[in-house]
Amino acid sequence: MDKKISPSLMCANFLELGKELKQLEEHGIEYLHIDIMDGVFVPNYTLGTDFIKKLHRACSIPLDIHLMIDRPDCKLDRFEFNEDDYVSIHYESTPHIQRTLNAVREAGARPMLALNPATPLNVVEELLPDIDAVLIMTVNPGYAGQKLIPQTLDKIARLRKMLDDAGYPNIEIECDGNVSFENATKMSRAGANIFVAGTSSLYAPGADLSENVKKFREAIK
Ligand code: DX5
Ligand code: ZN
Repeated sequence: MDKKISPSLMCANFLELGKELKQLEEHGIEYLHIDIMDGVFVPNYTLGTDFIKKLHRACSIPLDIHLMIDRPDCKLDRFEFNEDDYVSIHYESTPHIQRTLNAVREAGARPMLALNPATPLNVVEELLPDIDAVLIMTVNPGYAGQKLIPQTLDKIARLRKMLDDAGYPNIEIECDGNVSFENATKMSRAGANIFVAGTSSLYAPGADLSENVKKFREAIK
């Protein structure tokens, strides 16, 4: 499966955002990872609905919208989605996960199921027809700059096997959290194919964005 990079825009330099987006377009970056936090599902706040609208108009790269919000089923109509956008819904955020994933599809976007590190993989089995991708959180969601939870690497490998054995080889696996150059290689080998790149790699302090994109492509080859 094609390997794709999804830079985490909460880690971008907002004072230079236009320039950085142009660089990412020139490098053929596949997605822009947009963290939406509500201070309830996770204790933090980050990006919002108006930012998504502005990005849709300013940039041609599809969005990978990560909803870390309580009861997303009640709030989806506040968001603007394009048809190539991924929208990830946390299993832990709603009692109606199947309905919410279908609501994403009905809204014209691509549903992705997000799992916290402690959420077991068997919940995926009941949702296979409803999803285009699974997001494996490799840290607990909420903050940039955390350390990889080591057992999530094996979780990626077990998920890839489960999806292939069940006849869903086209369901993609994204990983999010401490995706350093070194960890990206391990995640790629385990079977992930979309990589959220934040402060551990593309946006490491002092590093050059273009050089880091090249280095990241090498890491996930
Ligand atoms: C939360 C975010 C963070 C972060 C990724 O969902 O997506 O995980 O921006 O970057 P790191 O973990 O490298 O700081
Ligand atoms: Zn995220």
